[in-house]
Amino acid sequence: MPILLPLFGYEYFAQEAKEQTGKVNIHTFPDGESLVQIQDNIQDQEVIFVTSLNHPDEKILPLIFAAQIARDLGATRVGLVCPYLAYMRQDTVFNPGEGVSSVYFARLLSSHFDWLSTIDPHLHRWHDLSQIYTIPAQSLHAIKPISAWIERSVELPLLIGPDSESTQWVKEIADTIQAPYLILEKHRRGDNQVEISAPHSEQFKHHTPVLVDDIISSAMTMIETIRHLKRLGMNAPVCIGVHAVFAPDAYEKLLAAGPEKVVTSNTIPHPSNQINVSSLMWDEIFPS
Ligand code: R5P
Repeated sequence: MPILLPLFGYEYFAQEAKEQTGKVNIHTFPDGESLVQIQDNIQDQEVIFVTSLNHPDEKILPLIFAAQIARDLGATRVGLVCPYLAYMRQDTVFNPGEGVSSVYFARLLSSHFDWLSTIDPHLHRWHDLSQIYTIPAQSLHAIKPISAWIERSVELPLLIGPDSESTQWVKEIADTIQAPYLILEKHRRGDNQVEISAPHSEQFKHHTPVLVDDIISSAMTMIETIRHLKRLGMNAPVCIGVHAVFAPDAYEKLLAAGPEKVVTSNTIPHPSNQINVSSLMWDEIFPS
C-alpha cells in the first residue's frame, strides 16, 4: 500500500484517507534555503505527497526536493494529491511580454511526479488538465458536497455564478438541488478591481442568493456581487468558494460587505471551511 506524506500542514487532509501516513520535515535555513527530510523508510513503496499549492512560489521548491528525495530513497512511484492546484488562471497571454504560466507550472510538476489528483482546478481556456499535464492528472468536482451543504443549510436558494466560467458548477449544483440559477457578467479591471453586471432579479426577491465560485482570492468578485445584489434589494447572499485562497485582509473585507455567511471547502485550511471534500478525493484514489 502507498504511504501518504503530507506537507505544509496537510496532515488533516491525509488523515482522512485512513492509510499509512509518514512525516516530512522542512527546515528553513537563516538564508532562506530549505532542507527537506523524509523520516520514513519508503524503499520499494509508492508515496503520495499531500498538499495544496496556494502560495505556490514558496512551496514548489521544497516539494520538488521532496519528490526527488523520495526517488533517491527508492520509492516506486511518486504521486501528488493537490486539493488546490495553482497557476491555472494564467491560461493565455493577457499582455505582451507575459507567458502562459499554467503551461510552465504543468511542465514542472509533470517532470517530477508520476500522477496528480486535484479538486476543481480553474479550467477556463483549458478544458482538461491533459491539455497541459503530460502525467495522468485527475480533476474531481466538489459539486456533490457543495450541493448537500446548500440543501442542508439554505432555505429557498437562488444559485448565482459571478461569471461565465462559473456556469459549469453553478448549473450542475442548481440542477442537483432543483433550484433556479443566474449567471452574471464579470469584467476584471485589475487585481483588486472587478465589475459585475446586475441580474434580472425581481422574481427572486424572497430567495436566498447563493454565490458559488471556485476561488476566493482578493474576494473582489464576491464583494462586487454582494453590492449589486444589495442595490437590487435582494437578501444578503451566502458566499461559497471551493478554494479559500484569501489574500491578506480579503476575508475581513468580504465579511464587511455584509454576506449572510461565507463558506468554503477544506482544500485550503481556513476558518470559513465547512464543506469537507477529503473523502471525495480518497474514495477515488482508494476505492473500497
Ligand atoms: C476567476 O475567473 C475565478 O473563477 C474567480 O472568480 C476569481 O479567481 C476570484 O478572484 P477574486 O477573489 O480575486 O475576485
